[in-house]
Amino acid sequence: MVPSADSQSIDAAVSALRRGEVIGMPTETVYGLAADARNAEAVARIFAIKGRPADHPLIVHVASAATLPDWSRGSLALAEPLAAAFWPGPLTLILSRHPSVLDVVTGGQDSVGLRCPAHPLAQRLLAGFGGGLAAPSANRFGRISPTRAQHVRDEFGMQVPLVLDGGECAVGIESTILDLSSGLPTLLRPGQVTHAQLEKIVGCVAEKSSRNSPRASGTLESHYAPRTRMLLLPRSALVHEADEQRALGKVVSVLAISSMPSGATGLLLPEDPAAYAHGIYAALRELDGSGAHLLLVEKPPISLAWVAVQDRLRRAAASPDIDDYP
Ligand code: TXA
Ligand code: MG
Repeated sequence: MVPSADSQSIDAAVSALRRGEVIGMPTETVYGLAADARNAEAVARIFAIKGRPADHPLIVHVASAATLPDWSRGSLALAEPLAAAFWPGPLTLILSRHPSVLDVVTGGQDSVGLRCPAHPLAQRLLAGFGGGLAAPSANRFGRISPTRAQHVRDEFGMQVPLVLDGGECAVGIESTILDLSSGLPTLLRPGQVTHAQLEKIVGCVAEKSSRNSPRASGTLESHYAPRTRMLLLPRSALVHEADEQRALGKVVSVLAISSMPSGATGLLLPEDPAAYAHGIYAALRELDGSGAHLLLVEKPPISLAWVAVQDRLRRAAASPDIDDYP
């Protein structure tokens, strides 16, 4: 992956951020919609553009772990070793917020999400800007996350005129979120940094108890959803369903793993979970735009290595009716 933005575009992005504008920013996970985390009007603009409810907090992206005391208060006894192990990288830490952190960023909560992204352009942008960037994934609320600059343009057009093109996101799914703000460290969202890796650093890590926690919009059941109806099925059931639907005259698109069932059309993703994660959102976007009546997605193996992908697919398939989204 070769980032294509030159230093002139980084300078333009830094100037736009200083003016309080919202820009598209590549990270190694997915693209973000970024604004100055210390500018309440700029952050409010993110919510307006995205159509996101005001009580859903944003992650603040920072240049390094040295900035943790600027954004959080209380002990860093767990955060510091975690940051040393995984930053820059796809891990978001939820910590008690510093009193200076804006309410609009935290959704009024007493905690703040912090992450140091590894993408070289995000790093250069943060170094040039010199502050924190509040950034959710650069998709409309409830929609599929973007993993290419073009996805951000498709989603927002000239509402977000400046999108730094950092190529395809290497990881492809959102960061792991670990809550350190109350009691036992708790995994709120699975990602490339795994439960087992986190436990090696901090001991026991709990899994979040409620799937529908209102604290994290990425934890709502019907999130990351295509517009087309989508079913997640084991391969044999998928083949059967595809045949039945085609017999009813429906156009069916299949997202299969490593080989296409005979007679089916659609896209293939690799059997390796990291490679699958890298391609999942681009594939769902493409199939969603293919004009099919129904998307049939082959269920990946039930194993620890597939937990984060299973989570995203389950949410995408849970979409009840896309018109319900704000
Ligand atoms: O990989 C990522 O994390 C990407 C890139 C752009 O960095 N960002 C991302 O942001 O996925 P977003 O806003 O789409 O998802 C962040 C999740 C949301 O579900 C939000 O509710 C949760 O993090 N979150 C943020 N601050 C929180 C807090 N203080 N407590 C609990 N959850 C929080
Ligand atoms: Mg998101």
